[in-house]
Amino acid sequence: MTTLKPKPFVKWAGGKRQILDKIKEYLPLEFNTYYEPFVGGGALLFDLIPEHAVINDSNKELMNVYEVLSNYELFIKMCKELNIHERKNSEEYFYKIRDLDRDIKKYEKMTNYQKAARTIYLNKACFNGLYRVNSKGFFNVPFNKKERVSTYDAENLLLIHTYLTNNDVKLMSSDFSECVKMCQENDFVYFDPPYDTLNNSFTSYTEEGFDKKQQERLANVYKELDKKGVKVMLSNHNTDFIKELYEGYNFHVIKAKRNINSKGNKRGSVEEVIITNY
Ligand SMILES: C[S@@+](CC[C@H](N)C(=O)[O-])C[C@H]1O[C@@H](n2cnc3c(N)ncnc32)[C@H](O)[C@@H]1O
Repeated sequence: MTTLKPKPFVKWAGGKRQILDKIKEYLPLEFNTYYEPFVGGGALLFDLIPEHAVINDSNKELMNVYEVLSNYELFIKMCKELNIHERKNSEEYFYKIRDLDRDIKKYEKMTNYQKAARTIYLNKACFNGLYRVNSKGFFNVPFNKKERVSTYDAENLLLIHTYLTNNDVKLMSSDFSECVKMCQENDFVYFDPPYDTLNNSFTSYTEEGFDKKQQERLANVYKELDKKGVKVMLSNHNTDFIKELYEGYNFHVIKAKRNINSKGNKRGSVEEVIITNY
């Protein structure tokens, strides 16, 4: 009998569902606690459903959804709120909900389950499921212009709720370096940071503000964990910069190429790589 596994509840940029089978080829055979410091939509977490896990993402709105999903009462209230969003969905309604964070005092008064429903609704009704905020931290992705929106699969959310509550899963919303501080020998960390870009300038950054300096900081954390006897796996683009940062570790190149630059003639594709220390 196969157990039903949860699936990500959001569409997340850099989500790993398409290359999950490749990633799974390179997992360690055994480990104690599972750490995922850049959990995003949790594609690998939900596939592995580890008994002991620490999951983290610096995106507070996203981690609030995981928090709400781990409390039955709040989870049900969130679903009721989502039903309202689905019923009222329109361009005007989308912008009304999206712009709730513009009034900080009012936004702070919203309950966590209302905020979680807003995050899921915006993810499903916005253009391409992107998560992007402007310099003031306001969500600024436009409406996808679809008349209907389906925001959740009740059975899937129940599987997630059951997984989070029946196991020892710690939720955090912090920087990746904080998340791995408690790691011990034989724990396993999967790092899936925002991708390195092909632009080699030190000032370039992605939507999440993850620039080359952050990639370097991450490589240093990777090396410290390695010294401690922690099993570490990291996925990224196979760029020269990444090859340099992780020189000496095991590189497993994934053949499926994705376009990463959609701007005019700079369109290019780059390989993905999985780097392990075991
Ligand atoms: C490539 S995505 C992870 C995708 C995820 N593996 C999935 O399958 O959906 C990278 C994530 O890192 C988060 N992030 C960016 N900077 C971070 C930081 N300094 N510490 C922790 N998380 C960070 C982003 O919010 C984003 O969710």
